[in-house]
Amino acid sequence: MRNISLKNGLTAIIREANPEDAPRLLRYIEQVSGESEFLTFGPGEFEITVEKEKEFIKSIKDIENALMILVELDGKIVGMLNFNGGTRPRTRHRGEFGISVLKDYWGHGIATAMLEYLIEWAKEHEILKIDLMVREDNERAIKLYEKLGFKREGHISRYFKLRKKFYGVIYMGLEL
Ligand SMILES: CC(C)(COP(=O)(O)OP(=O)(O)OC[C@H]1O[C@@H](n2cnc3c(N)ncnc32)[C@H](O)[C@@H]1OP(=O)(O)O)[C@@H](O)C(=O)NCCC(=O)NCCS
Repeated sequence: MRNISLKNGLTAIIREANPEDAPRLLRYIEQVSGESEFLTFGPGEFEITVEKEKEFIKSIKDIENALMILVELDGKIVGMLNFNGGTRPRTRHRGEFGISVLKDYWGHGIATAMLEYLIEWAKEHEILKIDLMVREDNERAIKLYEKLGFKREGHISRYFKLRKKFYGVIYMGLEL
């Protein structure tokens, strides 16, 4: 657990998720899924029960190369990041993550703090490469990743289909 100072002067905490966070995390996920269309699921589409989410968080805690962190402000979850490493010896040293922040809290440095935490944790856990996938028109997220040193590595067309319109994704990566 660590304190982070936000750009608005407030202090939030960043910590690893616990199984007991499952109900609140699911409510958080339901809210963020309706606040932007950059995630791979929309409202009502995450479809995970509290029990399953609890098991998932517990399994992450037991896996050496996986991490789930959340940011709390006045006891409210305002951001989360989930990193999963490869499961086989040849891919165990790398992994991918997903990240989100509640819209009311964008622009205060919350995602930056979570990524800095991830990078530090990764270095301590023998992770040598962090990958991610981002919708090609998600300029805010792309700027954030580039700021932290991620490089563009590739493009996949038609990854998203939303209201009959296709969007490609960019693969980005950070070598540690
Ligand atoms: C992308 C997201 C995680 C960023 O979270 P955040 O807490 O607002 O990010 P931060 O405040 O730490 O950093 C934002 C960075 O984005 C960039 N940025 C901020 N506002 C921007 C804007 N209006 N346009 C473009 N870039 C912008 C800047 O580089 C900024 O860093 P800086 O302030 O140090 O210059 C958040 O907007 C979000 O949850 N979006 C919806 C879900 C999503 O897109 N997830 C990523 C999927 S790959």
